Amino acid sequence: CGAIWVGDLGMLVVLTGFMGVGKTTIGNRLARALGVSLMDTDEMVESRCGMSVRKIVEDRGEKIFRRFETEAIGMLPARARTAVSLGGGALGRSKNLQSLRRRGGIIVYLEAPLGVLRTRLRRTQTEARPLWAKKGPGGLALLFKKRSRAYEGSADLVIRASGRPATEIAREVIERASEISNGKADADQSSSRGKVVRDSRQARPARSAAHSPISAGGPTRSSHESAGVQAGGAGPSR
Ligand code: S3P
Repeated sequence: CGAIWVGDLGMLVVLTGFMGVGKTTIGNRLARALGVSLMDTDEMVESRCGMSVRKIVEDRGEKIFRRFETEAIGMLPARARTAVSLGGGALGRSKNLQSLRRRGGIIVYLEAPLGVLRTRLRRTQTEARPLWAKKGPGGLALLFKKRSRAYEGSADLVIRASGRPATEIAREVIERASEISNGKADADQSSSRGKVVRDSRQARPARSAAHSPISAGGPTRSSHESAGVQAGGAGPSR
């Protein structure tokens, strides 16, 4: 990944996606390639509180955890070269998305079918994730469906995060985020010459059908199954 030109503009790359999709694993690869440390919002909350996310949710409730999570997002730098991994529920609050956008964040949705995530997360790992642990299979499927729509609606990029190694996924994240970042740099230069600047939403490149979970070709699941996607590759690091 090191050879890829990441542009002169600070590139705040923000990974989102469902629990177990590999945000931390891929985020660490990404951070290494960018020559920075990963900023993981769950870890930021944990180090601030001195206890695990699970314990915070159990002892103080999800609402308080979400407040800490929002504060962590509020501490991220603006327009600096940074790799960020969000907790899977962070984009459930619109103010978090707004805060990331204000910082020039490029939102990258790492997507994988729920079946793959279920296989990846061993019991101990689901226990560390209070929201996963308390949902039954039906509840989890519903949450996944709802969240998938929200991720898709917020993302600048949708990247397939199953059936291939984390390094390859991180490389694709850098390549495609760089295209967006460099596009923004061009737009900023144009603006200083009196031209119209596109905002980050307008600057979003059209997603290719291959990467879009709700492409015209049909639902995510069928496109993945036909691609023969298996569990593995970018599993969770916890
Ligand atoms: C959550 C996901 C977790 C963590 C918390 C809540 C969620 O992070 O923030 O347990 O609501 O999906 P990961 O997505 O890294 O597991």
